[in-house]
Amino acid sequence: MALITWTKDQHGVGVDFADDQHKVLFDLLNTLHESSAQGDRKKIGDDLDALIDYVVDHFKNEEVEMKERGYENYESHKALHDDLIEKCAAVQTKFHSGEDIALQETTQLIKDWLDGHIPTHDRAYVPCLTGATA
Ligand code: FE2
Ligand code: FE2
Repeated sequence: MALITWTKDQHGVGVDFADDQHKVLFDLLNTLHESSAQGDRKKIGDDLDALIDYVVDHFKNEEVEMKERGYENYESHKALHDDLIEKCAAVQTKFHSGEDIALQETTQLIKDWLDGHIPTHDRAYVPCLTGATA
């Protein structure tokens, strides 16, 4: 069963690139959730790397857009991104050095982070990115 499901009500921000990338993020997280349950270490590693690479790319894309438009909360938004990347990088390093990591905790942490971040912090940049008045 999928760990996370994208719905317009809960996660839609109304900026195409962000909505599209959030959907891909959710798919990659669900793929890791499934491979974690199956236990093939090579596949788990590949899925973990694919998810984290995409997280990094997505954050970068948002940051470029926010910066170009002079978004007032750019710094604090980027700090939230950096914090998750740091946590993910620590898990990634541990996993690839052969340690057992709590995959379920990791996927749950990322799910909870996305569920919290997208409706609040990502939606907050929309007026600035679309030129609409808040
Ligand atoms: Fe986002
Ligand atoms: Fe964000």
